Amino acid sequence: MKLKKFDNKEQMSLALASYTKDLISISESRGRIFSLALSGGSSPVRFYELLAEEKINWRIVNIFLVDERKVPLNHAHSNFRMIKKALLSKIDIPETNIFSFKTEIKSVSKCAAEYEDRIRKAFGDKYPVFNLIILGVGPDGHTASLFPGEDHYPEQNSIFISTFAPTEFDVHERLTMTLSLINSANRRVFVISGKGKSEIIQRVLDRDDSIPAGLINSKSSIYIDNPSFVRL
Ligand code: 6PG
Repeated sequence: MKLKKFDNKEQMSLALASYTKDLISISESRGRIFSLALSGGSSPVRFYELLAEEKINWRIVNIFLVDERKVPLNHAHSNFRMIKKALLSKIDIPETNIFSFKTEIKSVSKCAAEYEDRIRKAFGDKYPVFNLIILGVGPDGHTASLFPGEDHYPEQNSIFISTFAPTEFDVHERLTMTLSLINSANRRVFVISGKGKSEIIQRVLDRDDSIPAGLINSKSSIYIDNPSFVRL
């Protein structure tokens, strides 16, 4: 895991927006589509806002959700709602380049399956390999909507599944990328902001396999806005 420490959230977000823009420019120079998957949470919001200010040819970018809550897309707890407010509503991107979940589908498992089918088609029915996946980490070590206490390996043949968040979380029915899909991406970046995350950051760096964030491919980067963090 490559750790990048920044003095504050603004510097961290600026650096990640610039890095993402550069990756997209490389894809554009090669005449390729850039597949970008975004997480919810609070840590990446400023990054999304600054990414919207970068000079990017959004016509070559497809945007996907790493995970979602099973609520309407305009609900206060919807990841898509946050990403639309911070980024999508500010950029000139074709609607057909945006892949949100159809959370109106009654069955959460059918909702995950529908998204999976749509994403597989978007990748020409080849296994989806994302150019960049943005991840967060919860204090309990969850990432995406993969929570501790579940065995996340059996899902190897699926790419999107439904999960159930523990009671302390705001929405229990969840939709999420599987571990195998996340680990198959070209690049993954954890964006971790705020105090009180040092212990979980260390566990991710140690690849503690008792938490889902510890199961993420070691060829990933971790961006933190805590300059005093010392890697043990
Ligand atoms: C979600 C997110 C989730 C988030 C973590 C970290 O649906 O809530 O995808 O996995 O990334 O909970 O959230 P913070 O960035 O707010 O700490």
